[in-house]
Amino acid sequence: MKSLLAFLSMLVFGIATALYIGFHDNFPSRDRIYDDEQEGLKELVVFKFSHVVAENTPKGLAAKKFAQLVNEKSAGKIKIEVFPNGSLYSDIEEIKALKEGDVQFIAPSTSKLGMLSPDWFVLDLPYAFADYDAVREGLHGKIGDQLFASLQKDRIKGLAYWTNGFKQITSNKGPVKNPDDLKGQTLRIMQSNVIEDQFKLLHAKGRQDSFNSTFQLLESKKVDGEENTISNIYSKKFYNVQNYMTISNHGYLGYAVMTDQTWWNSLPKETKRILSEAMKETTEWNEKHAAKMNKDQLQQIREHSPILIHELTDEERKAWMKRLDPVYDQYKPIIGEHLIQQVRDLQKQHFTSNGQ
Ligand code: SIN
Repeated sequence: MKSLLAFLSMLVFGIATALYIGFHDNFPSRDRIYDDEQEGLKELVVFKFSHVVAENTPKGLAAKKFAQLVNEKSAGKIKIEVFPNGSLYSDIEEIKALKEGDVQFIAPSTSKLGMLSPDWFVLDLPYAFADYDAVREGLHGKIGDQLFASLQKDRIKGLAYWTNGFKQITSNKGPVKNPDDLKGQTLRIMQSNVIEDQFKLLHAKGRQDSFNSTFQLLESKKVDGEENTISNIYSKKFYNVQNYMTISNHGYLGYAVMTDQTWWNSLPKETKRILSEAMKETTEWNEKHAAKMNKDQLQQIREHSPILIHELTDEERKAWMKRLDPVYDQYKPIIGEHLIQQVRDLQKQHFTSNGQ
């Protein structure tokens, strides 16, 4: 009798187990049919955004704006932690950190991307862009597309181009008005061979170094000067350790906002939608505010600093353009004729239409 009971209970247990397994696969449990897209985001997720400049700059404020928009659009479920001033990674470290998944968003200046592909050097060519309109036309058009396509081989996704503005020259060694005035000087520059070669044409030396070492290099007089946008000169107080500034607008400084392609592909659809929308709105906001920020901060420097400011006249600017022009031919085999031609076309269109 006992063994019959044992046999029957094993049979019942076996049938129940088989039924459970069978039904479980055909009719997934309640938990399994809910997904992020249908139900919205369930848990707080945190992504990191690292950059090297101060908060009161076009990039610093854009990163904050992006974080705020993402927070609003996700009803607080996605948090972007912004690390400014190179507090997490220097400009030399951040691409590696992105690839290793230690940070999800970075926005290096495009001058630092020549190490990924020489195509990026095109944006460093002297006087490549006459004004913000020319930059927008180039980056929202074929130039921008080609540059982002060049990142694919490194599994990096270009999300947006953010703008800062045009570079000016600061120095401790006398006013800089003519191309010969920089002769013999050493300037801190970004990690770009085009910029280094541009200064060679003026018999000056470019020292490639990180952004966050610039103030110290200037203060300790290890370099005589540097080139940067007004917002970087203002927010990092370079004007306190430099005697002369030339409004030369000789080069463009902007950013490529980037993420890791594999990480991006792994995100739920809803998360991608929120991040993409926020990025689009932030980029429009950045384009509206960057020029004004540089203009206002120049006014602040004029009012509150003894630095002597010279603005190149049209005649002087033409002399600089002529002296720096050979770098275009020098880089044709490296950047490619096609990209250089597109910059030449923009120059023709925008320098002339401005009467410049
Ligand atoms: C930046 O604007 O991100 C830094 C520029 C620089 O390295 O000079």
